[in-house]
Amino acid sequence: MITEEQFREAASLLREGKLVAFPTETVYGLAANALNSDAVARIFEVKGRPSFDPLIVHIANAADLRKWVEEVPESIQKIVDEFWPGPISVVLPKTATIPDIVTSGSPTVAIRCPDHIAARRLIDLAGVPIAAPSANRFGCISPTTAQHVREQLGDAVPSVLDDGPCKVGVESTVVGYDGNRVIIYRPGGITREAIEGLVGKTFLAGTDDQSPSSPGQLTKHYAPRTPLVISADPISPSHDERIGLLTLSEESEIDSLSPYSKVEFLSPEGSLTEAAANLFAAMRRLDAAELDRIIARPVPETNLGLAIMDRLRRASAR
Ligand code: TXA
Ligand code: MG
Repeated sequence: MITEEQFREAASLLREGKLVAFPTETVYGLAANALNSDAVARIFEVKGRPSFDPLIVHIANAADLRKWVEEVPESIQKIVDEFWPGPISVVLPKTATIPDIVTSGSPTVAIRCPDHIAARRLIDLAGVPIAAPSANRFGCISPTTAQHVREQLGDAVPSVLDDGPCKVGVESTVVGYDGNRVIIYRPGGITREAIEGLVGKTFLAGTDDQSPSSPGQLTKHYAPRTPLVISADPISPSHDERIGLLTLSEESEIDSLSPYSKVEFLSPEGSLTEAAANLFAAMRRLDAAELDRIIARPVPETNLGLAIMDRLRRASAR
């Protein structure tokens, strides 16, 4: 629970150009006033994030979208009407009021209206659009609890609003467009199937041919310190190696559990939605278990499985 006092304090910090960590339905974000270049620069500094990786601007009301973008094509308008507030960000030509530092110099800006009452309340009280990446050090696992934020960013952030664990657990889907075709730059909380049900066939950036990949979408990302490999094979137990296992459920597991020093089940019921919500916290627990390596089982790339596999691939990139 966030008290009135905490909301007011956080909103005034934002207006003063300070940073605040806040909950959303996807992951915790590190917020700054998007219209204040100095405040936004501080996000890059605190995260250790390269300046070529653009930020998402968060708004409290879907109707505010048009204040910050020059145009909204029909396909993107349909997406906004259907899924906002929700875990999807739309990339559109920005107005001149959005500072270049927010978009890493790109003429487009990613905008999202989160499906989280406390997040929208904070943005509303601050009275400005909020630039917010995930509240982790660059390249590390995204935070799904306020405790995760405190562990990584600690004293660098004057206020961390705590509203419990995030219910979606993976970041927003990032979409843009190319002519009439919607491009998925990053798979996330709103599934490709749901988007295609609305606007027809989409491109998946970096995978489907000839579609541009998103600025700042680096291969290595969301990574634990412990080496992580994606594998569907059983292991031959060795005495002196400590191996962790990240798998969907006990029923789905193909190997005996005894060779593994630590096992994390993402969803006892085998639900990809539940698995997404548990993914980052489970990766953190494995990373803290002093293992030599982590084996992650692949999941089907349908629905939230597409975002889960995207994050696992980035976590396994060395
Ligand atoms: O769920 C989320 O989106 C979370 C919460 C806090 O809202 N935020 C988040 O932000 O994941 P971040 O900074 O960790 O990821 C933003 C990604 C960038 O890495 C980039 O790939 C994409 O969004 N992006 C931002 N602006 C873009 C643009 N103008 N064109 C293409 N992609 C963009
Ligand atoms: Mg991030």
